[in-house]
Amino acid sequence: MNKLMIVLTTGLLAVAATSVSAGDAAAGKAKYAACGGCHGANGVSAAPDTNPSLAGMSEADAKTAIMEYKSGKRDNATMKAMTASLSDADIDNLAAHIATLKK
Ligand code: HEC
Repeated sequence: MNKLMIVLTTGLLAVAATSVSAGDAAAGKAKYAACGGCHGANGVSAAPDTNPSLAGMSEADAKTAIMEYKSGKRDNATMKAMTASLSDADIDNLAAHIATLKK
């Protein structure tokens, strides 16, 4: 009985840990619809001098950048407006999707 409890608890903890650490790329792809107009549907910008391409960015870098635009640490009015209403989960999901975009 105790052994079963330990197995169950460990399983639940593993599930919980996975859901906090990793974004859901499929959900992020849906959110990315609002971003593709500037950054390119596949992360390759049509006007990279104005709007940087995101393809090739790591999940960690994308997450940091989005959080810094939201907080104002990175000062850009366009990106501040784009990130203002994103939840932490949205940011994780977007970063996971961006990391799937290849150059
Ligand atoms: C209206 C155009 C526009 C839209 C829409 C837009 N962005 Fe941006 N984005 C920019 C511009 C311009 C920059 C560069 C800002 C700067 O100089 O820091 C940028 C920068 C970024 C960067 C940093 C890139 C780097 O190389 O450091 C990320 C990540 C990013 N945007 C993600 C997003 C996401 C996610 C969305 C959708 C929620 C989005 N953007 C929507 C224009 C846009």
